[in-house]
Amino acid sequence: MCGIIGYIGYRIALPILLEGLRDQEYRGYDSAGIATWEDGKIDLIRSKGKIADLEKKIGDKKSNATLGIGHTRWATHGRPDDTNAHPHLDCKKELAVVHNGVIENYLELRSDLTAKGHVFTSQTDTEVLPHLIEEYYDQGGDLLNAVYHATEDVDGYYAMAVLSAKDPNRLICARLDNPLIIGIGDGEYFLASDMAALVEYTHQMLILENGDIADITPQGVTVYNKGQKVERKISVIDWDKASAQKGGYEHFMLKEIHEQPWALTQTLNGRISDDGQEIIFKEFDATIKDRLAKIDNIFLVACGTAYHAGLVGRHAIEKLLHLPTQTEVASEFQNRDAIITPRTLAIIISQSGETYDTILAMRKCQQMGAFTLAICNVLDSTIAREADAVLYTYAGPEIAVASTKAYTTQLAVLYMLTFYLGKLMGKISDAELKELIAALAQMPQLAEETISELESKIFQISLGFAPWNDAFFVGRGIDSAVAMEGALKLKEISYIHAEAYAAGELKHGTIALITPDVPVIALCTQSELISKMISNIKELQARKAAVIGVTTRGNQEVEAVCKDTLYIPQTNELLAPILANLPLQMLAYYAAVVKETDVDQPRNLAKSVTVG
Ligand code: M6R
Repeated sequence: MCGIIGYIGYRIALPILLEGLRDQEYRGYDSAGIATWEDGKIDLIRSKGKIADLEKKIGDKKSNATLGIGHTRWATHGRPDDTNAHPHLDCKKELAVVHNGVIENYLELRSDLTAKGHVFTSQTDTEVLPHLIEEYYDQGGDLLNAVYHATEDVDGYYAMAVLSAKDPNRLICARLDNPLIIGIGDGEYFLASDMAALVEYTHQMLILENGDIADITPQGVTVYNKGQKVERKISVIDWDKASAQKGGYEHFMLKEIHEQPWALTQTLNGRISDDGQEIIFKEFDATIKDRLAKIDNIFLVACGTAYHAGLVGRHAIEKLLHLPTQTEVASEFQNRDAIITPRTLAIIISQSGETYDTILAMRKCQQMGAFTLAICNVLDSTIAREADAVLYTYAGPEIAVASTKAYTTQLAVLYMLTFYLGKLMGKISDAELKELIAALAQMPQLAEETISELESKIFQISLGFAPWNDAFFVGRGIDSAVAMEGALKLKEISYIHAEAYAAGELKHGTIALITPDVPVIALCTQSELISKMISNIKELQARKAAVIGVTTRGNQEVEAVCKDTLYIPQTNELLAPILANLPLQMLAYYAAVVKETDVDQPRNLAKSVTVG
């Protein structure tokens, strides 16, 4: 949510900043801006709209600046327009600040600063930062100290970068609960909210930790925390710019849908023993194993798509481990008096590892003594670092706002974790475990088959689908969790109002909304529930709904009652969600394409929700 970019070194900064903003546009895209330092002055340019609008405004303007910062915004305080766009300046226009996060006490700070004579020009919370830093800078003349004192006055959370007209070779940045990464070059440094914007220049990343303030000059980076100098490790990342580009696909989402077989392979790689008898998590040492062996209840906590992965995970855990298990929306979990003890396992699921509500929920679990295990896609993200243990999904960078490959790999890790715990706790027999692991190992190939077999048929179906304002997704058991993800995917990118229901709930009210030809997607992958699903589909048919069935090959009885049927390959039914989800992603994608919406950057959304 909002993207920061920064550069200090010997190259012309402007093209690097613009490229970095384009790479992070998925984080927020309602306005953007850049501030560069040149000849003792700050040059500021900001624009409402996308990076392309900013570029138009910049035109063929020449710049020789080798120091600058930029920002792409997702508005929280103040509407998206030129004046609320970042960077923001102080009164003397000698300090420029970009900021992600929320300054919770900004009204109080703003009124104190106004009383001291500061003049504000925007409606943002961010603007208090340059004025606050200006106050301290005027007192002591040192930018690092001024930023440090300003952070002490601020309540809330932030990632920020600051430059000063009076400090030609210096970039100061700070983070609290919002990601900020320094790319280490040779005589040059880069700053971004996401590594994807830095990989073009370097693979060496210094990931700032909470409370860190970094002083960056072309000669080096010094990091401070609570006023003390600290050492931070440099992570070397092993993917390149091509992984974060469209690679010939029309949209990132389509590329990411097609990457799922590969992402599954990466995620399973090295985690299945050679004899296929067990799951190996090198991430778990003896202490962790001991703790896991003693758990007696499980919470899965997450937001959005990751929450839906958690719903599937709950079904698998309950079925195989027979432990009390709950899946919770992170933002609500904070308001609950959930029963958490030191024998609770809290599985925290997050693609980005930076979702603010999920971070807060994780910390709550930790305070109450639970063991927290993160399932995360982003290396060394906040959740990955703060959890007691982490299992990474190796999906590669996910750029489209709509999550696809992250969800699928989250499911793969949840299944592996369930199998692992089943063995550890002696709850799954060796024979059953072997069968489940063999089925999971087949998933990359079956996912490939599903995508290639269904894509063109789904495009055809989506043509009839797009004119509709409403759609419904129904399923029973584990399929009802998949239905929820299908509805979210459709609504977020095609803007078709979509709702998911447990199929048995339809006649308790929702069936009143069923009108002739309204699309209903019915998931039917669980053999013991199919006859009940067929009854529900017949009820829908009687109201003339256009039912699209998603079922496993061989289930002809489903085809007999549906307008269209999408077949997925046969597999162990517990794992069917990995495959059943794929046609739903493609249906959402093609409905959005037909409706000509902005698939990768749907309205009002941002990829990483770093505000609560
Ligand atoms: O990065 P996270 O997995 O924590 O993100 C959680 C949700 O914001 C995310 O899954 C969101 O729902 C997606 N846009 C859905 O496609």
